[in-house]
Amino acid sequence: MAQMFCCAHTGALKMRWLVVAFAACSFVADVYCADDTIAWCYHLPSCSYTQWPIISAEFCNGSRQSPINIVTSAVTVNESLNDFAFTNFGNTNVLDNITNTGKTVKVNFKSGVQVSGGGLSETYDSLQFHLHWGNRSNVPGSEHAVNGVRYPMELHIVNIKSSFNGNTTAAVNDPMGVAALGFFIEVLPNTTGQPASWKTLTSYLQNITLGGDIVNMTPGLSLNDLLDGVDRSQYYRYLGSLTTPKCFEAVVWTVFKESIKVSEDLIDMFSTMLRIGNQTSEIMVNVFRGLQTTQAVTTRSSNSGSGGSGGASGSCVSLALLALSLFLGSSY
Ligand SMILES: *[C@@H]1O[C@H](CO)[C@@H](O)[C@H](O)[C@H]1NC(C)=O
Ligand SMILES: *[C@@H]1O[C@H](CO)[C@@H](O)[C@H](O)[C@H]1NC(C)=O
Ligand SMILES: *[C@@H]1O[C@H](CO)[C@@H](O)[C@H](O)[C@H]1NC(C)=O
Ligand SMILES: *[C@@H]1O[C@H](CO)[C@@H](O)[C@H](O)[C@H]1NC(C)=O
Ligand SMILES: *[C@@H]1O[C@H](CO)[C@@H](O)[C@H](O)[C@H]1NC(C)=O
Ligand SMILES: *[C@@H]1O[C@H](CO)[C@@H](O)[C@H](O)[C@H]1NC(C)=O
Ligand SMILES: *[C@@H]1O[C@H](CO)[C@@H](O)[C@H](O)[C@H]1NC(C)=O
Ligand SMILES: *[C@@H]1O[C@H](CO)[C@@H](O)[C@H](O)[C@H]1NC(C)=O
Ligand SMILES: [Zn+2]
Repeated sequence: MAQMFCCAHTGALKMRWLVVAFAACSFVADVYCADDTIAWCYHLPSCSYTQWPIISAEFCNGSRQSPINIVTSAVTVNESLNDFAFTNFGNTNVLDNITNTGKTVKVNFKSGVQVSGGGLSETYDSLQFHLHWGNRSNVPGSEHAVNGVRYPMELHIVNIKSSFNGNTTAAVNDPMGVAALGFFIEVLPNTTGQPASWKTLTSYLQNITLGGDIVNMTPGLSLNDLLDGVDRSQYYRYLGSLTTPKCFEAVVWTVFKESIKVSEDLIDMFSTMLRIGNQTSEIMVNVFRGLQTTQAVTTRSSNSGSGGSGGASGSCVSLALLALSLFLGSSY
């Protein structure tokens, strides 16, 4: 997850930092706020993710850090991980604007988008999605991996407990305050400009080529359009962290097993068209955190039965997953 919480970098910092952060954010409308307390980056050795445990030690050096490699043979089925309910994911008027933050491309949602079920303890408000990518489709840029394999891109939908009423500071200080939905993006072979929903989404990239750029989105595109083809009843679950500083250990992670399929030409647009700052700055590539091996978490999954994301109370064939529990951290 990148830059999901403007103004939420305050954590347990001193009060004067808190005041500075809020003052800054309230005026620049969450474009640059993620940088205001810690100068982290993806592209320089001095501030890239290998340095985060040092430059943002409080949480980035923790023990439930994300992303992780999901070892499917070590995943156990949890029968409580039922289907999600998605509110306003089919609404074509909730994607408000799209921005180049200098660290990612982020789409902010209007209010009223929500997710519940899926073993979550309450309803969560969906705030935004953003993307992680590598360098063209042949240099993978997903954050999570499955059995050591990474995908070209990964999409993260960020949600916080509705009971916090949009208070992201409260959310990142709750061990399950944030629910992140991760979707892998894979190449749809032998096509260009597909699917239409992603052609529409990527058509905005020409308008946000510089860091800080933001444009409003035209109604007509929904989250369901962008997630088309993914069986959302099939997912992995573990407790982890934000994947950008300050790496708060506040995230209930859901990583869907099936990937979104997008043609290579559209995937490549992310790593060729965008800069991290002004016209003379670097092209934005390799915007992902490396795998965290300090994990001591157990990954579980929903049932392996079929049954669409729409909710047909799926008959479940849960035999495909081995009932073997293993602490990922111990295998490194
Ligand atoms: C992580 O950083 C904190 C704060 O600097 C420090 O107290 C703690 O010992 C560090 N933990 C590890 C495992 O390095
Ligand atoms: C972008 O959308 C978000 C969510 O609706 C809104 O809070 C924010 O003000 C918008 N930013 C701009 C610059 O329009
Ligand atoms: C199974 O999922 C439920 C719902 O998220 C959770 O409360 C429970 O702790 C999980 N069980 C195990 C053994 O992880
Ligand atoms: C990204 O790939 C292009 C060509 O495919 C290459 O010229 C460039 O150096 C790469 N950038 C990084 C940061 O690796
Ligand atoms: C947000 O939550 C934090 C932490 O619980 C709290 O200190 C702060 O007062 C809350 N802010 C608002 C505006 O309610
Ligand atoms: C895709 O194109 C490659 C050659 O570019 C070809 O070998 C392959 O069979 C094609 N796959 C499909 C599904 O058409
Ligand atoms: C995006 O850029 C194109 C080409 O420059 C322009 O025609 C279009 O009006 C812009 N759209 C927005 C929403 O700014
Ligand atoms: C672009 O940004 C760099 C680094 O912030 C700065 O040194 C340079 O003057 C800027 N160039 C232009 C044309 O604004
Ligand atoms: Zn992310």
